Amino acid sequence: MLQSTFRISPRDDESGFHVAVIMDGNGRWATRRGLPRAAGHRAGALAVRRIVQAAPALGVTTLTLFALSGDNLQRPPAELRTLFRLFAHYLHDEADRCAAHGIRLSIIGRRDRLPAPLQSAIEHAERRTAHGTGMRLRIAIDYSARASILQAAERAARARLAPLTSESLGPQLAAANHAMQGTTPQPWPDVDLLIRSGGEQRLSDFLLWEAAYAELFFTPRMWPDFSADDLAGAVADFRQRERRFGRLPSAELRATATAAPGAASA
Ligand code: FPP
Repeated sequence: MLQSTFRISPRDDESGFHVAVIMDGNGRWATRRGLPRAAGHRAGALAVRRIVQAAPALGVTTLTLFALSGDNLQRPPAELRTLFRLFAHYLHDEADRCAAHGIRLSIIGRRDRLPAPLQSAIEHAERRTAHGTGMRLRIAIDYSARASILQAAERAARARLAPLTSESLGPQLAAANHAMQGTTPQPWPDVDLLIRSGGEQRLSDFLLWEAAYAELFFTPRMWPDFSADDLAGAVADFRQRERRFGRLPSAELRATATAAPGAASA
């Protein structure tokens, strides 16, 4: 019952293919090589470039990358400074390239805690790529799925578009959550495939709402080593899976449909 109240839009082929990635393992990649963690993050930025380049040819229409969680702000200030600088450089360097390839870039997450140069880089990159009609690239910085759901609930309650009943809350929350995450009111598709590199198997407060029916793919590969082939392998694995969204497997449905009356309950 809960499921039918809260599930908003099961994916169909027309809604595109949304891949989300938790890019983990930069620090371990560096430490294993006797390098500072910053070197791992720099190598991680190169992996981001490879993946963004490879994704459209694999049919990805939305790519969401988890670059920094709200909880990551507790990391040492020096590491955060490195990351913020890296994000700003990436956005400056890639805005033109993304625009040239029709990629529309946006940042999800809080902006008010980010340094001013990064905020300007975000605004510039979003403006520069705003007319892209190809893949949507979303980068999550200072992002927390729980916080965004709570804020969406608060927004829905304040807006009082409809009485807050268990039936109305789901769609209102989804609409408010989607509206909060992008610069446009267009709703974002649910996540189809969620990849996590670095060997851990958890969601770490990433897209909890949108990943309700995501297929999960965990790989021990450290993010800086993640290649276009790794992405293609994860997508191929995804294509083998049967997605049921709570329904019966399709083979069983076919058997049920063709069975003699009364056989289905046997
Ligand atoms: C997690 O690995 C990674 C991060 C907190 C930062 C992610 C940043 C990048 C991939 C670099 C550039 C990104 C963009 C968008 C240009 P970790 O450092 O926690 O690794 P560990 O678990 O091995 O310590």
